[in-house]
Amino acid sequence: MRHPGALKAHRRRAVHWVPMIQALTPQPLPGATVQASRSPSDVAATVRVPTASRAYDIVIGRGLLVPGAFEGLPRSSQALVVSNPTVHALHGAALHAAVAAHHARVHTVLLPDGEQHKDMATLGRIFDQLLQHGCDRKTVLYALGGGVVGDMTGFAAACYMRGVPFVQVPTTLLAQVDSSVGGKTAVNHPLGKNMIGAFYQPERVVVSLDTLDTLPPRELSAGLAEVIKYGPIADMAFFEWLESHMEALRARDPAALVQAVRRSCEIKAEVVGVDERESGLRAILNFGHTFGHAIEAGQGYGAWLHGEAVGCGMVMAADLSARLGLADGELAARIRQLVARAGLPVAAPAMPMARWFELMAVDKKAADGAIRYVLLDGPGKAQMRGADRALVEAVIRQHSAAGA
Ligand SMILES: NC(=O)c1ccc[n+]([C@@H]2O[C@H](COP(=O)([O-])OP(=O)(O)OC[C@H]3O[C@@H](n4cnc5c(N)ncnc54)[C@H](O)[C@@H]3O)[C@@H](O)[C@H]2O)c1
Ligand SMILES: [Zn+2]
Repeated sequence: MRHPGALKAHRRRAVHWVPMIQALTPQPLPGATVQASRSPSDVAATVRVPTASRAYDIVIGRGLLVPGAFEGLPRSSQALVVSNPTVHALHGAALHAAVAAHHARVHTVLLPDGEQHKDMATLGRIFDQLLQHGCDRKTVLYALGGGVVGDMTGFAAACYMRGVPFVQVPTTLLAQVDSSVGGKTAVNHPLGKNMIGAFYQPERVVVSLDTLDTLPPRELSAGLAEVIKYGPIADMAFFEWLESHMEALRARDPAALVQAVRRSCEIKAEVVGVDERESGLRAILNFGHTFGHAIEAGQGYGAWLHGEAVGCGMVMAADLSARLGLADGELAARIRQLVARAGLPVAAPAMPMARWFELMAVDKKAADGAIRYVLLDGPGKAQMRGADRALVEAVIRQHSAAGA
């Protein structure tokens, strides 16, 4: 659906990042011809993240919880592995063995598992451990887990003695393609998600893809939402590649996973390299997140997974883009189809209309009380802007389960 007249007026108010987006160099996607690593530990790809505060590598491969993947990282007398009981039982021993030579003593703190525990009280348990062991400002923190553990460990590292080094060891697909990269760290507040946090970059991100072997399918699908996100906002060739490799990804085909994680990390690295602290371009990474955060918070943290809410939020944001004439309806339909094929919900939960807007107004992108959305600006481009409430209401009605 296109409304060229309305578009002209809206464009005057819109923030545009087209030139910067075009600066994202599309990388060739060798697709199924690329071989995944065959040896037990093998770096298949390295992606450099060039932020102003620190440049660091994301190393991607299978079997990377071994000393070689941690070579060159800071050594210190003490270190703290932050994880949760679920992940630590599966992958803790491998990480401890991998970093043992770097530290005289490696402590462990296991946080309760779940988004509902991503708060100040749980964060305090990390500081308790660091202080009880007399850890100094050289102490290295290792985040072993998904986005919840990664975001909390990063924030703790930013705060403890005003900053200690930390290493991200993400074990969910979502964390490997998104949350472990770029230095956004935070905890939730009862009044808003990720509202208390800091920008703080890790020393390295070690993505050992074999950790995904133990990930529940629902969590894999949630991660695929953030993978899909990179296509419409920055790289339509990648979107097309995802359309032809979705089954392989859901089957955890090693070669397909390497490609998806590598390209996602490349796009994220380019974006945060240009705009580390989200003064402009970086906001495009929030495609689907205004609607998504409303679903997440409205249903209670943990009821909908972050990625599930983002998947549904992208369907809604794509529809809003189409209604504003910024993208065509066919692209919105393709996004909906790919989100569904990733095993994600495409119908939003029923919530009173006023509640949607109340929740969306808490979003960090809101400025002076006005809700802002990341919308498509043609295929492979995005922009952030407001939208008329009546149009947004129509989108919500269209996609709510109750259709109310
Ligand atoms: N910092 C950022 O830029 C950024 C970006 C996107 C999302 N996030 C945040 O990330 C969080 C979501 O992260 P998530 O989806 O990884 O959730 P999560 O950390 O809760 O992990 C999901 C579940 O999978 C389990 N798990 C993790 N790795 C496993 C493995 N290898 N095998 C078996 N089980 C495993 C966890 O214990 C948990 O129960 C949200 O809090 C969101 O706000 C942050
Ligand atoms: Zn997200």
